[in-house]
Amino acid sequence: MSDFPSALGLSPEQTEELVRCAGAAPSLHNRQPWRFRLLPHAIELHGDMQRRLPVADPDDRELRLGCGAALLNLRLAVEHAGLRPVITLLPSLAGPSVLAEVRAPSRGTAAAADMELFMAIPARRSNRRPFRDVPVPAGHRRALVQAVREEQAWLHVVERSERGRLEGLVHRAHRAQMADPRFRSELARWTGRGEGAEEGVPASAAGPQREPQDQWVLRDFSGGQAQPRTPGKEFEHDPLMVVLCSYEDSRAADLQAGQALQRMLLSATSLGLAASLVSQVVEVEETQHELRELLGGGLRPQTVVRVGYGSPTPPTPRRDPAEMLIGSAEPANP
Ligand SMILES: Cc1cc2nc3c(=O)[nH]c(=O)nc-3n(C[C@H](O)[C@H](O)[C@H](O)COP(=O)(O)O)c2cc1C
Repeated sequence: MSDFPSALGLSPEQTEELVRCAGAAPSLHNRQPWRFRLLPHAIELHGDMQRRLPVADPDDRELRLGCGAALLNLRLAVEHAGLRPVITLLPSLAGPSVLAEVRAPSRGTAAAADMELFMAIPARRSNRRPFRDVPVPAGHRRALVQAVREEQAWLHVVERSERGRLEGLVHRAHRAQMADPRFRSELARWTGRGEGAEEGVPASAAGPQREPQDQWVLRDFSGGQAQPRTPGKEFEHDPLMVVLCSYEDSRAADLQAGQALQRMLLSATSLGLAASLVSQVVEVEETQHELRELLGGGLRPQTVVRVGYGSPTPPTPRRDPAEMLIGSAEPANP
C-alpha cells in the first residue's frame, strides 16, 4: 500500500499519478518550478520560489508559464481519473504563493480529444534536433491555432515576410544574453547534466553542435558535450515558427498562456509533430518590445516555438512526485 497522500477522493496511487503527470510539463531549463499541496477536497499548485531563475526570468513570468503547463497536464489527468476539474487561478483566500486550485466536485466523462492529449503527455518533449524539410500541413497549423484559442490565448503564425525580422531579433537577444556572465553561469548550472540528475537539461537532449548559420536553435544546452553533426543532417530551411501570445500582461495571463502552450505542444505531439522553444527574444526586454510591435502592439508575446517533423529525442528527467509535495505543516515558500 502506497503512503502517498490522497486528494479529490482518489486513491493514493491515482493521486501520485496526477502529480507525476503534472510534473511532466516543460519548464525553463527543466527547473520544474512547481509544488503541490494535496488536500482532501482540492489540489493547490504553488510556484516554487526556491527554483527561480533570476537572471533569465527576473519577473518569474516563465516560472508561471511552466506552472500553467503543469496545470493543463493536471486538468487532463483529473479528467482521465473520471472527475470534472474546476480551476481557480490565483485564488486570493488560499495565500499569495498559490497559483491555482483544482477542485473536482463531480464525476464526468472526459472528451475524446482531451484523452488523446492526455496520452501524449509522456511522449511530448523538446526537440532541438534538425527537422525534416517537409512543410506542416495547413490543417495541422489550424489545429495548433485552435488549441491555443481554447485556452484563451493567441497563436501568431509567422509569415514569410516577418521571418527576417524575427530572426534578427532572436539573434540580437541571444548575443545580449550570452554577453552577460551572470546569464552564462546560470545556463551552465542547469545544462549539460549527466546521468542521474533529476533536473536540468541533460547533454543528450541538447541536439547537435550549433553552427553560426543555424537559424533558430541557438541556446546550447550541451555544457560543451554536444553531439557532432551528422553530415547531411542540416537544420531545416523553413520551419513553422509561431509566437504564443497572451491578451494581457498579468500573472493570470501568464498561467493562461502556459496552459495554452501545453495544449498546443500536446496537440503537436499527437499530430506527429516535433517542437522546440526559442525564448531569448521574449526574455530580453528590448527585443520583446520590438516583437510586440511587429505583432501590432496589442498582444503580449510569451514564447516562440519552432514546429516541424523531427527524429526521436530522449526524454529529460523529472523529480519523484513525492519531492514535489508541500507537507501539511510546511510553509509553501519559506
Ligand atoms: C517558459 C519556457 C521557456 C523555454 N525556453 C527554451 C529555450 O529558449 N530553448 C530551448 O531549447 N528550450 C526551452 N524550453 C524547453 C525546456 O528546456 C524543456 O521544457 C525542459 O528542458 C524539459 O524538457 P522537455 O520539454 O523535453 O520535457 C523552455 C520551456 C519553457 C516552459
